[in-house]
Amino acid sequence: MRILGLSSVPMLSRSCHALVIGNSDGIGLHSTRRLLDRGWKITGVSRRASPVVHARYQHHVLDVSDRAYVEKLRAILGQEPVDTCIYCAGIGGPLDPQDLRSEVHVFEVNLMGALRTAEVVVPTMVAAGRGHFVVLSSQADILVVVEAPSYAASKAAMSSYFEGLGLALRPRGVAVSNLRLGFVDTKMARATMRPFMYTLDQAVDVVERVLHKRPLRLTRPLSTAVLVRLLCWLGRWRVFLARGPASPPSSAPTSEPDIR
Ligand SMILES: NC(=O)c1ccc[n+]([C@@H]2O[C@H](COP(=O)([O-])OP(=O)(O)OC[C@H]3O[C@@H](n4cnc5c(N)ncnc54)[C@H](OP(=O)(O)O)[C@@H]3O)[C@@H](O)[C@H]2O)c1
Repeated sequence: MRILGLSSVPMLSRSCHALVIGNSDGIGLHSTRRLLDRGWKITGVSRRASPVVHARYQHHVLDVSDRAYVEKLRAILGQEPVDTCIYCAGIGGPLDPQDLRSEVHVFEVNLMGALRTAEVVVPTMVAAGRGHFVVLSSQADILVVVEAPSYAASKAAMSSYFEGLGLALRPRGVAVSNLRLGFVDTKMARATMRPFMYTLDQAVDVVERVLHKRPLRLTRPLSTAVLVRLLCWLGRWRVFLARGPASPPSSAPTSEPDIR
C-alpha cells in the first residue's frame, strides 16, 4: 500500500541540480533514481561507487568522515553550485562498551558529515538567496536507546541543529527541511520488530513531498510517531529511576573501614 502515491506528489521542477550525499544504497539511491526520472540533474557522493549510470548523473567516491571531505566537496561544487542538497548518509550499530570508537564514528557520519556538507553548500545558497538543504534524521531523535545510544543521540543533535539553522536561514530565502522517518526497508533497518515499515517507494514519496513543500520538519509515518512517543516516555522513566550500577564492581572503594 502506498501512503503517498506518485499521483499525490506534485511534479518537481525539471531544472534542478541536486547534491545527494550517501546515495550508493537505500533511500539516497532510490531518491537519486526518482529525481533523475523527474528530469533533475544529480551529483552523488558516497563511500562506494554508484550503480546509477545516466547522462544527468555524476558520482564522486568520498567519505564524509574523511579529513579532506570539505575541501574535496568544495572542489566538486566549485564547478557548478547546486539548488538542493539531500543528506542521506547515515550509519548505526550496536554499542560495544569495550570499544567506543564506532560510537564516535556514528557522530562523524550522521552529524558532523551533515554539518560539513552545510559548511560548503549553505553559504553559496545564502549568497544566491535561494536553495534547499534536506537532512534525513529519524523519529529515534527523541529516544534514549540503550542498545545503540550514538544513533539516537546523533539524530537528536541533527534535528535540533538543522531546525535551528532552518529558522535562521528562512529570512535569507534558503529552506532547510528535517525529515524524520520511522522504519524504512533498507539494510539499516535491522531491528527484529519494524512496525509500520515504509517501502523504499513510500519513503521516496515523502522525500519528494519535502522537496515540493519545503517544511522545516516532516515526520512520517504518524502511526510510528505515536509508538515512538510512548517509548520516549518509558525511556525517560528509566533514566529518572536509574540509581547507579546494580552492584558495585569488585574493585570499587566501599564505605566499609579497612580492617586489614
Ligand atoms: N532505514 C531506516 O529505517 C531509516 C529510518 C529513519 C531514518 N533513516 C535515515 O535515512 C538515511 C538513509 O538511510 P538508509 O536506510 O537509506 O541507509 P543505507 O541503505 O545504509 O544507506 C546509507 C548510505 O549512506 C552512505 N554512507 C554511509 N557512511 C558514509 C560515509 N562515511 N561517507 C559517505 N557516505 C556514507 C552509504 O554509502 P556507502 O555504503 O557507499 O558508504 C549509503 O549510500 C540515514 O541517515 C538514516 O539514519 C533510515
